[in-house]
Amino acid sequence: MATEAGVFFALWLQKPWRIAAANPSSRRLADAVAAQVDWSRPGPVLELGAGTGSLTRGLVRAGCPPERIIAVEREPDLARLLRQAVPRVTVIEADAREIARHPTVADQSFCAVVSSLPIKWFSVAAQEAVIRPCLERLGPGGRFIQLTNAFCSPLPIGKLGIVGCEVARIWLNLPPAQIWCYWDAAVRSRGR
Ligand SMILES: C[S@@+](CC[C@H](N)C(=O)[O-])C[C@H]1O[C@@H](n2cnc3c(N)ncnc32)[C@H](O)[C@@H]1O
Repeated sequence: MATEAGVFFALWLQKPWRIAAANPSSRRLADAVAAQVDWSRPGPVLELGAGTGSLTRGLVRAGCPPERIIAVEREPDLARLLRQAVPRVTVIEADAREIARHPTVADQSFCAVVSSLPIKWFSVAAQEAVIRPCLERLGPGGRFIQLTNAFCSPLPIGKLGIVGCEVARIWLNLPPAQIWCYWDAAVRSRGR
């Protein structure tokens, strides 16, 4: 039987621009991402581009009940593995750019959003389609937490009307990764 890493790698060989990484995130990176979530906030955690669940398991290790996680993954093979790996998580097999229209997400208020989507490769319109509905459902103080492998913001801050900064750099990952957090610029400037 193929391992999670084997399925991930095979998919990456077929669709490198869509999968965006040759291997799942390391445990160290997943724990660093989970540490960025403000667990005192109410609501579910939305995870975008969940893959085989490396970051999902990091959220669970941090104490998040699986029932509190809504994970979005576009690739059917990865979504199937994710359902098996972390059974009580709500897995939505969908394109994150259309997430605002999904009934499970439409009326939610999120504790946090965790994204490992290859968002720096999206068009600005597609980035907007992902981040705007997330920021609206996060509300004041809610963080959109994004992984990247570049030493600069993976999102064009000025064009999207957001503010953001790098909050952690994880060398023990292949390749080394950075974690960025973003907020709505209008909400931040009102001091909330
Ligand atoms: C870099 S991998 C990260 C996987 C996993 N979260 C991890 O950290 O190991 C990016 C993931 O995003 C998924 N993805 C890419 N574009 C997507 C989209 N538009 N909607 C939903 N998932 C997408 C890919 O299929 C892949 O599983």
